[in-house]
Amino acid sequence: MTKYMVAPTGRERTFGEDEIIVSKTDTSGRLLYVNDVFCRVGLYTESELIGQPHSIVRHPDMPRAVFKLLWDTIQKGEELFAYVKNMAKNGDHYWVLAHVTPSYDGSGRIIGFHSNRRVPERSALAVIEPVYQQLLAEENRHANRKDGLAAAEQMLAEFLRSQNTEYDRFIFATLKAA
Ligand SMILES: Cc1cc2nc3c(=O)[nH]c(=O)nc-3n(C[C@H](O)[C@H](O)[C@H](O)COP(=O)(O)O)c2cc1C
Repeated sequence: MTKYMVAPTGRERTFGEDEIIVSKTDTSGRLLYVNDVFCRVGLYTESELIGQPHSIVRHPDMPRAVFKLLWDTIQKGEELFAYVKNMAKNGDHYWVLAHVTPSYDGSGRIIGFHSNRRVPERSALAVIEPVYQQLLAEENRHANRKDGLAAAEQMLAEFLRSQNTEYDRFIFATLKAA
């Protein structure tokens, strides 16, 4: 599936505080399951999504460093909370607070991943958005993708150090502030 066939519109979509956007993927991030809220908010039908890479909902404003952190964490068998700006089929966007976890088989092998997403608090996005904008600008400042990603990862690490915190604590602090 070609990505970014639709340009972002700058219009925001949202969903209910009592709703959860759910997806399950295989170990490479291909969608195996999506719930009806995922389809409704993303403006896709279930059959348009199943079998597609999860990046089908990727928004170009998202820094790659966040997805690198996501994959590094879940492939180690750990869970991650992350704020993600996603793109609906028509180019509108919707923010989520995702909780991504590995799924295991009976012998303890990772067989896929699972994500539950809730609607984030505006106060949390006011903290997160400027950080993501800086990471994205750093990524785009480098001609070479790999260098850009490495520089953004370093920038994120330095930002967390400057706040005297770690990624998980930083995310939980945005929840408490909300
Ligand atoms: C369970 C799971 C859920 C994911 N959810 C999202 C999501 O909501 N939005 C998104 O852009 N990427 C999500 N990803 C990450 C994508 O697989 C991908 O790494 C990301 O979109 C960046 O794509 P790119 O490397 O092609 O730029 C998820 C991955 C997994 C395993």
